[in-house]
Amino acid sequence: MEFNELIVHRYSVRGYKPDPVEEDKLIRVLEAACIAPTAANCQPFQLIVIHTQGRQADLKRIYHRDWFVQAPLLLCACGVPTQGWVRSADKRRYLDVDIAIVMDHLILAATNEGLGTCWIAAFNAKAAREILGLPDEIEPLIFTPLGYPDCQPGTKERKPLAELVRYERW
Ligand SMILES: Cc1cc2nc3c(=O)[nH]c(=O)nc-3n(C[C@H](O)[C@H](O)[C@H](O)COP(=O)(O)O)c2cc1C
Repeated sequence: MEFNELIVHRYSVRGYKPDPVEEDKLIRVLEAACIAPTAANCQPFQLIVIHTQGRQADLKRIYHRDWFVQAPLLLCACGVPTQGWVRSADKRRYLDVDIAIVMDHLILAATNEGLGTCWIAAFNAKAAREILGLPDEIEPLIFTPLGYPDCQPGTKERKPLAELVRYERW
């Protein structure tokens, strides 16, 4: 898909068909995530691929929406803080920025494959830790279902450029 068309076409998919995701598509989506730039090229993340079949009730403890477990796959992007770049001057961590870029690559690549996704941050981190067996030092940051959409996009509401862009200074 042409890039401008792709970014307009992506939307938060909150309804999925149970159809399987082809293995080659999944690999291309994961590769797109792994080619993402990260601060100092640290790549401080792990992606967890989760099959939903037969585990829906348990997985819904992570995010209690029926559509969360409708797709055949869920992906979880985790940060590995010990591997992330920290700006030495003020100790600012860039882990969340890195994961956001990785996830955006993943989501746009999925859109390009005709697959639906939805960024999910409002999940129960305690349940995610328990169900995915995460070590204490690993941070689960974003989930998305991955599957074929079974819903229509809503209208895109965005602030106009004039409200969001300043030139030369604040
Ligand atoms: C960091 C982030 C976290 C989000 N968390 C959730 C969430 O927990 N649940 C949900 O339904 N949507 C979530 N969304 C989706 C946003 O609500 C959605 O992207 C926004 O309303 C714009 O709609 P669109 O994605 O259809 O263009 C999240 C989006 C982002 C970028």
